[in-house]
Amino acid sequence: MVRTDRHLTEDDLSKSLRRDVAEGLAAAPKTLPPKWFYDERGSGLFEEITRLPEYYPTRAERAILRERSGEIARASGADTLVELGAGSGEKTRLLLDALCAQGGPTGFVPVDVSGDFLEEAAARIAADHPGLRVHAVVADFERHLPLLPTGGRRMVAMLGSTIGNQTPEQRAAFLGDLRGTMEEGESLLLGADLVKDPARLVAAYDDAQGVTAEFNRNVLRVIDRELGADFDPGLFEHVAVWDPDREWIEMRLRARTAHRVRVEALDLEAAFAEGEEMRTEISAKFRKEGLKAELAEAGFTLERWWTDPDGDFSLLLARA
Ligand code: SAH
Ligand code: AVI
Repeated sequence: MVRTDRHLTEDDLSKSLRRDVAEGLAAAPKTLPPKWFYDERGSGLFEEITRLPEYYPTRAERAILRERSGEIARASGADTLVELGAGSGEKTRLLLDALCAQGGPTGFVPVDVSGDFLEEAAARIAADHPGLRVHAVVADFERHLPLLPTGGRRMVAMLGSTIGNQTPEQRAAFLGDLRGTMEEGESLLLGADLVKDPARLVAAYDDAQGVTAEFNRNVLRVIDRELGADFDPGLFEHVAVWDPDREWIEMRLRARTAHRVRVEALDLEAAFAEGEEMRTEISAKFRKEGLKAELAEAGFTLERWWTDPDGDFSLLLARA
Protein backbone atom coordinates (compact mmCIF):
# COMPACT_ATOMS: atom_id res chain seq x y z
CA MET A 1 0.00 0.00 0.00
CA VAL A 2 1.21 3.49 -0.81
CA ARG A 3 0.53 6.50 1.33
CA THR A 4 0.67 9.84 -0.53
CA ASP A 5 1.07 13.35 0.89
CA ARG A 6 0.42 16.27 -1.43
CA HIS A 7 2.12 19.48 -0.36
CA LEU A 8 1.56 20.91 -3.81
CA THR A 9 -2.06 21.56 -4.64
CA GLU A 10 -3.22 22.57 -8.11
CA ASP A 11 -3.59 26.05 -6.69
CA ASP A 12 0.02 26.20 -5.39
CA LEU A 13 1.33 24.94 -8.69
CA SER A 14 -0.64 27.49 -10.61
CA LYS A 15 0.52 30.33 -8.32
CA SER A 16 4.19 29.45 -8.53
CA LEU A 17 3.98 28.88 -12.30
CA ARG A 18 2.39 32.33 -12.68
CA ARG A 19 5.15 33.94 -10.63
CA ASP A 20 7.94 32.13 -12.50
CA VAL A 21 6.47 32.95 -15.92
CA ALA A 22 5.80 36.61 -15.05
CA GLU A 23 9.36 37.04 -13.73
CA GLY A 24 10.98 34.92 -16.42
CA LEU A 25 9.37 36.67 -19.37
CA ALA A 26 10.21 40.09 -17.91
CA ALA A 27 13.88 39.17 -17.38
CA ALA A 28 16.64 39.95 -19.89
CA PRO A 29 17.48 37.45 -21.22
CA LYS A 30 14.15 35.67 -20.74
CA THR A 31 14.34 32.52 -18.65
CA LEU A 32 12.07 29.74 -17.34
CA PRO A 33 12.91 27.31 -14.49
CA PRO A 34 13.35 23.66 -15.51
CA LYS A 35 10.87 22.21 -13.01
CA TRP A 36 8.03 23.16 -15.38
CA PHE A 37 9.15 20.60 -17.99
CA TYR A 38 7.66 17.86 -15.85
CA ASP A 39 3.96 17.42 -16.42
CA GLU A 40 2.87 13.84 -17.26
CA ARG A 41 4.10 14.26 -20.87
CA GLY A 42 7.38 15.89 -19.80
CA SER A 43 8.12 13.12 -17.30
CA GLY A 44 7.45 10.58 -20.07
CA LEU A 45 9.76 12.45 -22.47
CA PHE A 46 12.49 12.47 -19.81
CA GLU A 47 12.15 8.68 -19.54
CA GLU A 48 12.61 8.48 -23.33
CA ILE A 49 15.73 10.66 -23.03
CA THR A 50 17.23 8.21 -20.53
CA ARG A 51 17.11 5.51 -23.23
CA LEU A 52 18.75 7.57 -26.01
CA PRO A 53 22.14 6.42 -27.28
CA GLU A 54 23.62 9.91 -26.73
CA TYR A 55 22.32 10.30 -23.14
CA TYR A 56 24.95 8.38 -21.14
CA PRO A 57 24.18 9.65 -17.56
CA THR A 58 21.38 7.19 -16.75
CA ARG A 59 23.29 4.17 -18.03
CA ALA A 60 26.46 5.25 -16.23
CA GLU A 61 24.68 5.83 -12.93
CA ARG A 62 22.83 2.52 -13.25
CA ALA A 63 26.19 0.77 -13.79
CA ILE A 64 27.50 2.27 -10.53
CA LEU A 65 24.34 1.30 -8.65
CA ARG A 66 24.50 -2.25 -9.98
CA GLU A 67 28.03 -2.57 -8.67
CA ARG A 68 27.75 -0.61 -5.43
CA SER A 69 24.21 -0.76 -4.03
CA GLY A 70 25.12 -3.35 -1.37
CA GLU A 71 28.11 -1.26 -0.28
CA ILE A 72 25.98 1.91 -0.22
CA ALA A 73 23.30 0.24 1.89
CA ARG A 74 25.90 -0.98 4.40
CA ALA A 75 27.91 2.25 4.52
CA SER A 76 24.80 4.40 4.99
CA GLY A 77 23.35 2.19 7.72
CA ALA A 78 19.98 3.47 6.47
CA ASP A 79 16.58 1.82 6.80
CA THR A 80 14.71 4.61 4.99
CA LEU A 81 15.45 6.06 1.57
CA VAL A 82 14.14 9.54 0.82
CA GLU A 83 14.56 10.29 -2.89
CA LEU A 84 14.29 13.88 -4.10
CA GLY A 85 13.16 14.24 -7.73
CA ALA A 86 12.47 10.51 -7.86
CA GLY A 87 10.77 10.40 -11.30
CA SER A 88 10.09 6.79 -12.31
CA GLY A 89 12.48 5.49 -9.61
CA GLU A 90 13.69 2.79 -12.02
CA LYS A 91 17.36 2.92 -10.97
CA THR A 92 16.31 3.29 -7.34
CA ARG A 93 15.03 -0.29 -7.38
CA LEU A 94 18.66 -1.44 -7.18
CA LEU A 95 19.14 0.51 -3.96
CA LEU A 96 15.82 -0.59 -2.53
CA ASP A 97 16.68 -4.23 -3.21
CA ALA A 98 19.96 -3.76 -1.32
CA LEU A 99 18.31 -1.96 1.60
CA CYS A 100 15.57 -4.61 1.86
CA ALA A 101 18.17 -7.40 1.71
CA GLN A 102 19.64 -6.11 4.98
CA GLY A 103 16.50 -7.43 6.70
CA GLY A 104 14.23 -5.38 8.91
CA PRO A 105 11.54 -2.95 7.87
CA THR A 106 12.50 -0.56 5.10
CA GLY A 107 10.86 2.69 4.06
CA PHE A 108 10.88 4.54 0.74
CA VAL A 109 9.87 8.18 0.45
CA PRO A 110 9.90 9.27 -3.20
CA VAL A 111 9.42 13.03 -3.60
CA ASP A 112 8.55 14.78 -6.87
CA VAL A 113 6.62 17.74 -8.32
CA SER A 114 5.17 15.54 -11.05
CA GLY A 115 2.31 14.21 -8.90
CA ASP A 116 0.41 11.70 -11.03
CA PHE A 117 3.60 10.29 -12.55
CA LEU A 118 5.03 9.90 -9.01
CA GLU A 119 1.95 8.12 -7.71
CA GLU A 120 1.96 5.63 -10.58
CA ALA A 121 5.69 4.95 -10.15
CA ALA A 122 5.33 4.55 -6.36
CA ALA A 123 2.49 2.05 -6.83
CA ARG A 124 4.60 -0.03 -9.25
CA ILE A 125 7.56 -0.07 -6.87
CA ALA A 126 5.36 -1.01 -3.89
CA ALA A 127 3.80 -3.86 -5.89
CA ASP A 128 7.27 -5.23 -6.66
CA HIS A 129 8.56 -4.90 -3.07
CA PRO A 130 6.17 -6.55 -0.63
CA GLY A 131 6.94 -5.31 2.88
CA LEU A 132 8.45 -2.00 1.71
CA ARG A 133 6.65 0.97 3.31
CA VAL A 134 6.17 3.47 0.48
CA HIS A 135 5.23 7.02 1.40
CA ALA A 136 5.10 9.21 -1.73
CA VAL A 137 5.31 12.98 -1.29
CA VAL A 138 4.23 15.42 -3.98
CA ALA A 139 6.36 18.43 -3.11
CA ASP A 140 8.87 20.97 -4.37
CA PHE A 141 12.29 20.16 -2.92
CA GLU A 142 13.20 23.83 -3.12
CA ARG A 143 10.31 24.77 -0.78
CA HIS A 144 9.05 21.78 1.17
CA LEU A 145 12.10 20.05 2.70
CA PRO A 146 10.94 20.74 6.29
CA LEU A 147 7.66 18.93 5.56
CA LEU A 148 9.27 15.62 4.54
CA PRO A 149 8.79 12.65 6.86
CA THR A 150 11.49 12.12 9.49
CA GLY A 151 12.17 9.04 11.59
CA GLY A 152 14.21 5.94 10.91
CA ARG A 153 17.85 6.12 9.81
CA ARG A 154 17.49 8.11 6.64
CA MET A 155 19.56 8.30 3.49
CA VAL A 156 18.49 11.20 1.28
CA ALA A 157 19.21 10.54 -2.39
CA MET A 158 19.18 12.85 -5.36
CA LEU A 159 20.07 10.80 -8.41
CA GLY A 160 20.48 11.50 -12.12
CA SER A 161 22.51 14.72 -11.53
CA THR A 162 19.29 16.63 -10.83
CA ILE A 163 21.47 18.77 -8.50
CA GLY A 164 23.08 20.09 -11.72
CA ASN A 165 19.84 21.76 -12.79
CA GLN A 166 20.34 24.35 -10.06
CA THR A 167 22.65 27.37 -10.33
CA PRO A 168 25.59 27.40 -7.87
CA GLU A 169 23.66 29.87 -5.67
CA GLN A 170 20.51 27.70 -5.70
CA ARG A 171 22.66 24.65 -4.95
CA ALA A 172 24.27 26.29 -1.94
CA ALA A 173 20.86 27.31 -0.57
CA PHE A 174 19.37 23.88 -1.29
CA LEU A 175 22.24 21.90 0.30
CA GLY A 176 22.24 24.20 3.35
CA ASP A 177 18.47 23.85 3.75
CA LEU A 178 18.68 20.10 3.30
CA ARG A 179 21.41 19.81 5.95
CA GLY A 180 19.18 21.84 8.27
CA THR A 181 16.46 19.18 8.02
CA MET A 182 18.84 16.23 8.59
CA GLU A 183 20.08 14.67 11.83
CA GLU A 184 23.81 14.34 12.38
CA GLY A 185 24.96 10.99 10.99
CA GLU A 186 22.26 10.71 8.31
CA SER A 187 23.59 10.30 4.80
CA LEU A 188 23.26 11.99 1.44
CA LEU A 189 23.64 10.03 -1.80
CA LEU A 190 24.23 12.32 -4.73
CA GLY A 191 24.49 11.44 -8.42
CA ALA A 192 26.63 13.98 -10.28
CA ASP A 193 27.56 14.14 -13.94
CA LEU A 194 31.25 14.94 -14.54
CA VAL A 195 33.00 17.44 -16.83
CA LYS A 196 34.03 15.77 -20.08
CA ASP A 197 34.51 16.29 -23.83
CA PRO A 198 32.12 19.11 -24.83
CA ALA A 199 31.13 17.30 -28.05
CA ARG A 200 29.75 14.37 -26.03
CA LEU A 201 28.00 16.73 -23.65
CA VAL A 202 26.32 18.69 -26.42
CA ALA A 203 25.22 15.49 -28.18
CA ALA A 204 23.64 14.26 -24.93
CA TYR A 205 21.47 17.40 -24.87
CA ASP A 206 20.80 17.64 -28.62
CA ASP A 207 20.01 14.10 -29.70
CA ALA A 208 19.57 13.03 -33.31
CA GLN A 209 15.94 11.92 -32.81
CA GLY A 210 14.90 15.29 -31.40
CA VAL A 211 13.48 13.90 -28.12
CA THR A 212 15.35 16.47 -26.02
CA ALA A 213 14.04 19.21 -28.34
CA GLU A 214 10.46 18.04 -27.66
CA PHE A 215 11.20 17.87 -23.93
CA ASN A 216 12.53 21.44 -24.06
CA ARG A 217 9.50 22.74 -25.98
CA ASN A 218 7.18 20.93 -23.55
CA VAL A 219 7.55 23.81 -21.11
CA LEU A 220 5.70 26.00 -23.64
CA ARG A 221 2.84 23.49 -23.84
CA VAL A 222 2.60 23.48 -20.02
CA ILE A 223 2.33 27.30 -19.97
CA ASP A 224 -0.23 27.27 -22.81
CA ARG A 225 -2.42 24.77 -20.99
CA GLU A 226 -2.05 26.07 -17.43
CA LEU A 227 -1.97 29.81 -18.07
CA GLY A 228 -4.01 30.11 -21.28
CA ALA A 229 -0.95 31.27 -23.26
CA ASP A 230 -0.60 31.05 -27.03
CA PHE A 231 3.03 29.95 -27.39
CA ASP A 232 3.43 28.09 -30.68
CA PRO A 233 6.13 25.48 -29.85
CA GLY A 234 6.85 25.14 -33.58
CA LEU A 235 8.12 28.73 -33.61
CA PHE A 236 10.96 27.81 -31.24
CA GLU A 237 14.13 25.95 -32.07
CA HIS A 238 15.94 23.79 -29.48
CA VAL A 239 19.46 24.96 -28.62
CA ALA A 240 22.05 23.24 -26.38
CA VAL A 241 25.40 24.94 -25.75
CA TRP A 242 28.36 24.17 -23.48
CA ASP A 243 29.56 27.08 -21.34
CA PRO A 244 33.26 26.31 -20.72
CA ASP A 245 33.67 28.95 -17.99
CA ARG A 246 30.73 27.92 -15.86
CA GLU A 247 31.05 24.28 -16.90
CA TRP A 248 27.40 23.77 -17.63
CA ILE A 249 25.18 22.88 -20.56
CA GLU A 250 22.58 25.51 -21.23
CA MET A 251 19.33 24.60 -22.97
CA ARG A 252 17.54 27.43 -24.69
CA LEU A 253 14.54 27.99 -26.96
CA ARG A 254 15.33 30.29 -29.90
CA ALA A 255 12.50 32.18 -31.62
CA ARG A 256 12.52 31.38 -35.34
CA THR A 257 10.73 34.62 -36.20
CA ALA A 258 9.80 37.87 -34.46
CA HIS A 259 6.41 37.40 -32.80
CA ARG A 260 4.33 38.19 -29.73
CA VAL A 261 2.95 35.75 -27.16
CA ARG A 262 -0.10 36.42 -25.00
CA VAL A 263 -0.41 34.86 -21.52
CA GLU A 264 -4.09 35.19 -20.68
CA ALA A 265 -3.88 34.33 -16.95
CA LEU A 266 -1.25 37.03 -16.41
CA ASP A 267 -2.85 39.51 -18.80
CA LEU A 268 0.54 40.06 -20.38
CA GLU A 269 2.14 40.04 -23.82
CA ALA A 270 5.79 39.20 -24.41
CA ALA A 271 7.63 40.16 -27.59
CA PHE A 272 10.24 37.80 -29.05
CA ALA A 273 12.76 39.14 -31.57
CA GLU A 274 13.86 36.86 -34.42
CA GLY A 275 16.68 34.67 -33.03
CA GLU A 276 16.01 35.69 -29.41
CA GLU A 277 16.98 32.94 -26.96
CA MET A 278 15.18 32.09 -23.73
CA ARG A 279 17.09 29.94 -21.18
CA THR A 280 15.09 26.93 -20.01
CA GLU A 281 17.67 24.79 -18.17
CA ILE A 282 21.25 24.59 -17.03
CA SER A 283 22.84 21.21 -16.43
CA ALA A 284 26.05 21.74 -14.49
CA LYS A 285 28.88 19.21 -14.75
CA PHE A 286 31.08 18.60 -11.74
CA ARG A 287 34.61 17.88 -10.52
CA LYS A 288 35.34 16.00 -7.31
CA GLU A 289 37.14 18.82 -5.49
CA GLY A 290 34.45 21.39 -6.31
CA LEU A 291 31.64 19.18 -5.07
CA LYS A 292 33.55 18.22 -1.93
CA ALA A 293 33.96 21.92 -1.10
CA GLU A 294 30.27 22.71 -1.80
CA LEU A 295 29.22 19.83 0.45
CA ALA A 296 31.57 20.90 3.23
CA GLU A 297 30.22 24.45 3.04
CA ALA A 298 26.72 23.06 3.62
CA GLY A 299 27.78 20.81 6.53
CA PHE A 300 28.32 17.45 4.78
CA THR A 301 31.51 15.36 4.82
CA LEU A 302 32.31 13.47 1.63
CA GLU A 303 32.88 9.81 2.61
CA ARG A 304 32.73 7.73 -0.57
CA TRP A 305 33.11 8.55 -4.26
CA TRP A 306 32.37 6.02 -7.02
CA THR A 307 32.41 6.39 -10.79
CA ASP A 308 31.37 4.17 -13.70
CA PRO A 309 34.19 2.36 -15.53
CA ASP A 310 34.50 5.17 -18.12
CA GLY A 311 34.68 7.89 -15.44
CA ASP A 312 31.69 9.74 -16.92
CA PHE A 313 29.47 9.97 -13.86
CA SER A 314 29.90 9.87 -10.10
CA LEU A 315 27.84 8.72 -7.17
CA LEU A 316 28.93 10.02 -3.79
CA LEU A 317 27.99 9.34 -0.22
CA ALA A 318 28.29 12.21 2.24
CA ARG A 319 27.48 12.37 5.95
CA ALA A 320 25.56 15.14 7.67
N1 SAH B 1 15.76 10.74 -10.40
C1 SAH B 1 15.32 10.35 -11.72
C2 SAH B 1 14.58 11.49 -12.45
C3 SAH B 1 15.44 12.69 -12.79
S1 SAH B 1 14.52 13.86 -13.75
C4 SAH B 1 16.49 9.86 -12.52
O1 SAH B 1 17.60 9.92 -12.02
O2 SAH B 1 16.29 9.40 -13.65
C5 SAH B 1 14.29 15.13 -12.54
C6 SAH B 1 13.11 14.82 -11.64
O3 SAH B 1 13.04 15.84 -10.64
C7 SAH B 1 11.77 14.87 -12.39
O4 SAH B 1 11.00 13.74 -12.05
C8 SAH B 1 11.12 16.17 -11.93
O5 SAH B 1 9.71 16.11 -11.91
C9 SAH B 1 11.71 16.34 -10.54
N2 SAH B 1 11.84 17.73 -10.11
C10 SAH B 1 12.37 18.78 -10.79
N3 SAH B 1 12.36 19.89 -10.03
C11 SAH B 1 11.79 19.54 -8.85
C12 SAH B 1 11.50 20.24 -7.64
N4 SAH B 1 11.79 21.54 -7.53
N5 SAH B 1 10.93 19.56 -6.62
C13 SAH B 1 10.63 18.23 -6.74
N6 SAH B 1 10.88 17.51 -7.86
C14 SAH B 1 11.46 18.16 -8.89
C1 AVI C 1 16.97 15.74 -14.71
N1 AVI C 1 18.21 16.32 -15.23
C2 AVI C 1 19.36 15.95 -14.42
C3 AVI C 1 18.42 16.12 -16.67
C4 AVI C 1 19.81 16.65 -17.07
O1 AVI C 1 20.55 15.89 -17.69
O2 AVI C 1 20.14 17.79 -16.75
C5 AVI C 1 17.35 16.83 -17.47
C6 AVI C 1 17.60 16.82 -18.93
N2 AVI C 1 17.58 17.87 -19.71
C7 AVI C 1 17.83 17.52 -20.94
N3 AVI C 1 18.07 16.23 -20.98
C8 AVI C 1 17.90 15.74 -19.73
